Amino acid sequence: MEIVVKENYEALSNYVAQCIQEQIKDKPSSVIGLATGSTPVGTYKELVEAYKRKEVDFSKISTINLDEYIGLSNDHPQSYHVFMQEQLFNHVNIEEQNTHIPNGVATNLEEECQRYEQVIDTIGPVDLQILGIGVNGHIGFNEPGSSFTGKTSIVPLTESTIEANARFFDTMEEVPREAVTMGIQSILKSKKIILLASGESKAPVIEQLLSGEVTEALPASVLHQHEDVTIVVDPLAYQLVN
Ligand code: F6R
Repeated sequence: MEIVVKENYEALSNYVAQCIQEQIKDKPSSVIGLATGSTPVGTYKELVEAYKRKEVDFSKISTINLDEYIGLSNDHPQSYHVFMQEQLFNHVNIEEQNTHIPNGVATNLEEECQRYEQVIDTIGPVDLQILGIGVNGHIGFNEPGSSFTGKTSIVPLTESTIEANARFFDTMEEVPREAVTMGIQSILKSKKIILLASGESKAPVIEQLLSGEVTEALPASVLHQHEDVTIVVDPLAYQLVN
């Protein structure tokens, strides 16, 4: 596991965007695994800027997103579908049919999970997977206690996640209670993984992750078992590591 400490969030975002660009330059038909959440927003912004400067061509790549809320239509403003369109897809030359995000309103969600795992196996393996990390160590929506052998599945959201999300919705009833997420095993199929963490709220979990113990109580700790992982942090997220 390699650790890269960048001087601030902008530098971190720029570094990760460069890694993605290099991956696409080396292999124009790369499969890139994408995360949502606030941490990769700066990376996506950098990629859009690079595209405008004609430094990167997304026309042959495919993308596979980690997760989607159950019950939010693909055009719901809080869906990860809309997030990806707004942050990246609408601004670059990626082919819509090459972008993959679980369908959180599929009539048969069990079948949707199987379909998604097949997408990962058919167009994958993912060449470069981008991950964020939850303050409790989750990756994707794999919360503490998730099996390291899990594939794409339906998972309940924790109370703290539901409460944190409530601010984006008019009523409590609208807040999603479940999500479809790639499992830990699905994530580990990726050839290369970059995990990003920024800000002091991530300091305790980064300290725990870098302590080296591998335990299902800290889902991200499974990354110690993968051969090509880079953790990219800013000094705030790294401050508790000696
Ligand atoms: C998002 C995802 C989550 C986030 C994590 C960190 O697709 O899978 O695991 O990466 O919750 O979120 P932020 O970046 O908002 O702190």
